[in-house]
Amino acid sequence: MKQINLTTKITVYSYDECTEIEKNLIDAAKHATSNAYAPYSHFHVGAALLLENGEIITGNNQENAAFPSGLCAERTAVFYANSQYPDQKIVAMAVAAFYNGEFTEDLISPCGSCRQVLLEVESRYNSPVKILLYNRKNEVYCAESMSSLMPLSFTSKALE
Ligand code: THU
Repeated sequence: MKQINLTTKITVYSYDECTEIEKNLIDAAKHATSNAYAPYSHFHVGAALLLENGEIITGNNQENAAFPSGLCAERTAVFYANSQYPDQKIVAMAVAAFYNGEFTEDLISPCGSCRQVLLEVESRYNSPVKILLYNRKNEVYCAESMSSLMPLSFTSKALE
């Protein structure tokens, strides 16, 4: 028998400690919550992606009466970015959520499907995507890459 301990490094910054670029990205994610279509959950999520050229792309959750047909904010943003700017690496992603009239007290962490999609982005561009998760206590939880949040993940290596 052997045990393997997997660790993930998360750095918690205050919003004020972030760089101007990161602040802009977080602000864009917060703003993007206002265009979410979430009549069922009322949980408005915004995601903002920073492209290598400095452009910011945003997305938000888009729900559907047939629940599985909706899509999370993160994947809405990633699929739009990849479809419009296939030559641009995504270098960072910020996520925020607005619920019951305020931004959530705790960070919103991407669901498993969104993590898998971001993992594919990292392998496609061979480059990490920095993850910034905002909460209304003005904290920003920062992971250096999506793969650091997904140990033992399924990747295209398995298909080689
Ligand atoms: N949601 C996101 O958009 N991103 C996440 O990281 C978590 C959940 C959405 C899906 C659904 O529209 C609503 O939030 C409630 O689950």
